[in-house]
Amino acid sequence: MIFLKTDEEVELMRASNDLLGRTLAEVAKHIQPGVTTARLDKIAEEFIRDNGGIPSCKGFEGYPAALCTSVNEQVVHGIPSEEVVLKDGDIISVDTCVLLNGFHGDSAYTFPVGEVSDDVMRLLRTTKECLYLGIDCAVTGKRLGDVGFAVQNHAEKNGFSVVREFVGHGIGREMHEDPEVCNYGRRGNGIVLKSGMTIAIEPMICLGRRNVLIEDDGWTARTIDRKPAAHYELSVCVRNGKADILSTFDYIRQVLGERFI
Ligand code: MF3
Ligand code: CO
Repeated sequence: MIFLKTDEEVELMRASNDLLGRTLAEVAKHIQPGVTTARLDKIAEEFIRDNGGIPSCKGFEGYPAALCTSVNEQVVHGIPSEEVVLKDGDIISVDTCVLLNGFHGDSAYTFPVGEVSDDVMRLLRTTKECLYLGIDCAVTGKRLGDVGFAVQNHAEKNGFSVVREFVGHGIGREMHEDPEVCNYGRRGNGIVLKSGMTIAIEPMICLGRRNVLIEDDGWTARTIDRKPAAHYELSVCVRNGKADILSTFDYIRQVLGERFI
């Protein structure tokens, strides 16, 4: 069942997503060689709680942390750890959810750590472009297959591959609502988008092959070929003519300055 949101509800979701954007920026300040992912998690959880939010990944189906921190070949759901120390040339995807005023925000960003290779930089840029091309299709009258096609087409045109096992989703009072938002698909397929639908679009794109496995911790998804993967996510509200982007990377942009892509 898909819940259409009223304008008032959409504004509450914008507030959740704004806190989330500020949280990712706070984390961005600390991403550098030598930092552990456990430290980033602590920073995020404190920031969210200090600002009246709840880090809603923590406890979700037993997930143990506020952040998902997925490094290099880890695609999503990497668990923060004292043992994972970032080093120059890594990439780290930071994905989190914030619950505020009864509504969830959901957003993710992949950061380079120091200097990364040209190939990896191109993966990051392309994945972000995929996200915005998907968002361009999140308008009244288009279909979910149009979103998936836009993401997949751009990724594959650039020689990258699209993860199939994880998808975007509706979002609102629940972190995961209907519908599923695939990052692959065919134009003109799938449900018709209606104004007031709120969805999280989150392409997960691989440098090598698209196949993934889950590590023994039961959460961490990584590429089987151990090549890196990137993940960007924004929550949006479907509107007539142009999607309304509820999450924001603007605070991250302020932190990264000219390093922002
Ligand atoms: N933020 C994730 C998403 O994009 C949710 C991760 S599952 C959790 O859907 F258990 F880590 F919360
Ligand atoms: Co999500």
